[in-house]
Amino acid sequence: MGEYEDIFRASTDDPEAFWLRAAQAIDWHKPPTRALDDSRPPFYRWFPDGELNVCHNALDRHVEAGRGAQPALIYDSPVTGTTRTYTYEQLRDEVARFAGVLAGLGVGHGDRVVIYMPMVPEAAVAMLACARIGAVHSVVFGGFAPRELAVRIDDATPSVIVSASCGIEGKRVIEYKPLLDRAIELAVNKPSHCVILQRPQAEAAMGENDVDWAEAMQSATPADCVPVAATDPLYILYTSGTTGKPKGVVRDSGGHAVAMCWTMPNVYDVDTGETIFTASDVGWVVGHSYIVYAPLLAGATTVLYEGKPVGTPDAGQFWRVVADHGVKSVFTAPTAFRAIKKEDPKGEHLAKYDLSTLRYLFLAGERLDPETQRWASDLLEVPVIDHWWQTETGWPIVANPAGIELLEIKPGSPTKPLPGWDVQVLDEAGKPVEAGTDGPIVVKLPMPPGSLPTLWNDDERFVSSYMSAFDGYYLTGDGGRIDEDGYVFVMGRTDDVINVAGHRLSTGGMEEVLASHPDVAECAVIGVADPMKGQVPRGFVVLKAGVDRDEAQLRAELVQLVRDQVGAVASLKDVAVVAALPKTRSGKILRKTMRGIADGNDEPVPSTIDDPAVLDALRPVLRRG
Ligand code: COA
Ligand code: AMP
Repeated sequence: MGEYEDIFRASTDDPEAFWLRAAQAIDWHKPPTRALDDSRPPFYRWFPDGELNVCHNALDRHVEAGRGAQPALIYDSPVTGTTRTYTYEQLRDEVARFAGVLAGLGVGHGDRVVIYMPMVPEAAVAMLACARIGAVHSVVFGGFAPRELAVRIDDATPSVIVSASCGIEGKRVIEYKPLLDRAIELAVNKPSHCVILQRPQAEAAMGENDVDWAEAMQSATPADCVPVAATDPLYILYTSGTTGKPKGVVRDSGGHAVAMCWTMPNVYDVDTGETIFTASDVGWVVGHSYIVYAPLLAGATTVLYEGKPVGTPDAGQFWRVVADHGVKSVFTAPTAFRAIKKEDPKGEHLAKYDLSTLRYLFLAGERLDPETQRWASDLLEVPVIDHWWQTETGWPIVANPAGIELLEIKPGSPTKPLPGWDVQVLDEAGKPVEAGTDGPIVVKLPMPPGSLPTLWNDDERFVSSYMSAFDGYYLTGDGGRIDEDGYVFVMGRTDDVINVAGHRLSTGGMEEVLASHPDVAECAVIGVADPMKGQVPRGFVVLKAGVDRDEAQLRAELVQLVRDQVGAVASLKDVAVVAALPKTRSGKILRKTMRGIADGNDEPVPSTIDDPAVLDALRPVLRRG
């Protein structure tokens, strides 16, 4: 048997022993005496009697171990022409001081802090500062509009919000402060203070309750690490569900820290002192786990990149970052590589840089099409590793465990389940299907440390969303199959969640926005295949009787409405006005059928359709897209 098989088997034969051993990678204030509390399924708790501080583990302990001078975080920002390196000692000092700022504003153990920031090192500093004093951060992706931010503020009820005066999107400067002010206006829960990082590209006008980051840092007293229970929440990260109300995924402190430490050497093959470059955003789970927490917990060096794969200024920036900072593993979304391929199909930029340190390219966030995988591996001549996971799980469910043993790569498959994950495909009756048969992908409970223990303030939704479809299993929301060799193939979501350029979005949320327009009677939003972004949304609206509007103007209004209320990141560029939407006899809109036709598939007409003529009338519109 290979090493992977041995380790996987160890994790299933005796999970207690496996995870307690993994927990030894953490400095515990009070070491756990047991791994799993399974007394209240499906609410599992890891390391129930352990105590630790995650920030201590990410920073202080490396300084105490004599690695204070090692680079911890390299900020590389082609959009501002800045590169700045923080050693472990410098980052610890900065974080301790900002923790002092938060404590000075009354933030303590268990309090929530919302962080709405662009890709600047202060975003990571704010996250770690919360962890230092036992506060719970909730980072909101900077591309979300005020309404989305307001919904998250009202759910997390933060006492303080940390933000910046602006972000830089390619060549555009986006002022964040007016968006933040608008969100606070919309929110019912008002924070007591906002800490604002002033950036020279656009300084913000400050209000009565706003605190200037730089000024506050000057007068702050550094704060020490506060031990917390392993089961205390470290953060809440909102993710798209099937409705407009996002789900507040809770991450615990101890289980997460153990899982992060385990994955760095075993999956990403990055050890203490080595460098990982995760080109994502701190607003997504990939950024939480593999820009901030895992690299620092493992004592590695992380690159925080403020820029795009292309256009800032060219398609060679990823290679430049690898060469400049001696990167061993790169992690990004397939979309980024499709964008690079489009700009520089022959990879001519590559010749300018020394990529001798690069050992792997990891891709996740959306399905990796075999063509992009082939192009990237021919170009870089390193293993291109697809791996599958979700905000809910916090770390990969299925991956090629490069640090343990590089398994054969099968194009189209993220390879095999990692230790701790009992992945299965079930039929409608909840029975495992035969190898090679498609169905919903589930994980047998309990899931390993680091996966979500619940949703913020909503145990009920946790159970109804994930735990009730099949008793004893977590429903991933993805469909696919497992072949006879145990390789998992993930084919796409089985719900109304779509993936646009690696960004997870809810079509239900966009439908709510379209439906709020006074001229719209009903609507549907579907995700259709897109060669660059993987998927893009398309909207279809039926107008209220008697509405007589210029169609082009109305369509533009609807596109703008989604941009204003969800954010530009939704990328909804196409809304069609149609006479009717195809439905089942019980009134359910046939979104799956619409999607299949739009994607050019030979889509069967469901026997439950109410009026086939409606679908026939829509076909040319769907195909036109
Ligand atoms: N703040 C404000 N606006 C943002 C934003 C942010 N943080 N992030 C994106 N946007 C805006 C973009 O400017 C764009 O606006 P536009 O419609 O006015 O041009 C819109 O949201 C869509 O953004 P995006 O999906 O990023 O498309 P793009 O055309 O600007 O770039 C790629 C395409 C492929 C270069 C880009 O999507 C990319 O780098 N993808 C990598 C995927 C990734 O990091 N995924 C994270 C999970 S691993
Ligand atoms: P997020 O929670 O934003 O990380 O998005 C998670 C979703 O992205 C998953 O449920 C999948 O639908 C999709 N996804 C992530 N990684 C992969 C992958 N490697 N292959 C296919 N789909 C993926």
